[in-house]
Amino acid sequence: MILVDKGKCVRCGACVKDCIVEIMKPDADGVPFVAENEAQYCTNCQHCLAVCPQGAVICHEVTPENCAPIGELPDPEKFMNLLRQRRSIRQYKDENLDQETLDKLKAALAWTPTGCNDHRLYFVVIEDKTEMDFFRAEMSRMLKFLIKTGIMRLIYPNFKRYLADIMGGKDVVFRNAPHLIVVATPKKAPCAEADPWIALSHFDLFAQSLGVGTCWCGFAVHAFKWNGKMRRKLNLPSGYKIGAAMLFGKPDVQYARATAPKQFQFRT
Ligand SMILES: Cc1cc2nc3c(=O)[nH]c(=O)nc-3n(C[C@H](O)[C@H](O)[C@H](O)COP(=O)(O)O)c2cc1C
Repeated sequence: MILVDKGKCVRCGACVKDCIVEIMKPDADGVPFVAENEAQYCTNCQHCLAVCPQGAVICHEVTPENCAPIGELPDPEKFMNLLRQRRSIRQYKDENLDQETLDKLKAALAWTPTGCNDHRLYFVVIEDKTEMDFFRAEMSRMLKFLIKTGIMRLIYPNFKRYLADIMGGKDVVFRNAPHLIVVATPKKAPCAEADPWIALSHFDLFAQSLGVGTCWCGFAVHAFKWNGKMRRKLNLPSGYKIGAAMLFGKPDVQYARATAPKQFQFRT
């Protein structure tokens, strides 16, 4: 439900103009309201609340006082440094992150955009490195099985380069990372394919701004689909599917410079 404080509202129309589903309409006095039969279309994006210069709007019980204030943004040069210097980290210190950092990372996920503002993403965060032992062991068992049965040759013809590593028990997938974050979505979410990747892209940048190393773990997404034992360990709600996964932890590698990546193509 959206409530507008008549005493505070100056009838500027900012909330009416910014409502994506166009349900905010001025009443006879010019004060915006949402008709009862229109309320169902509200996506709880809270734009009406965020845009109101007077703090006159309450959106689904969220008040202006509940909102984060407007703060200083990183300057573009520093933000660009973050984009350039973010690296996929595949060497980690064998230690857990402190709880404060883990909590910060988890809290930031609330601001990830999702299609239709669908807030049903489900995150599994492996917070204790000893819990990773199960996934490492099961992954190693599965990779060896795929190699022995010849299936690996079919799904990943280049695996031979890693044959000795895998057979020798090297953690080629989870890279000895102390932490893993997995995102799942309801199978029928409006943007089920995109939302998890976007969430972890935000997580990635925020983590690296905190000095936390990250690495996309595309192979883990497939492994969770193939391996019921690993998937069940995540204990996902029914009707959910895994979308994306990322390793993270304290980096045990430092880069002396950024890279010079090949430019993508642009229409000329
Ligand atoms: C969708 C996606 C899946 C990825 N999966 C893996 C993976 O399974 N293992 C891995 O070590 N790196 C993975 N990466 C990391 C890429 O290899 C890496 O981003 C690329 O080599 C560029 O290096 P940089 O991230 O350090 O700039 C993945 C990246 C993306 C975007």
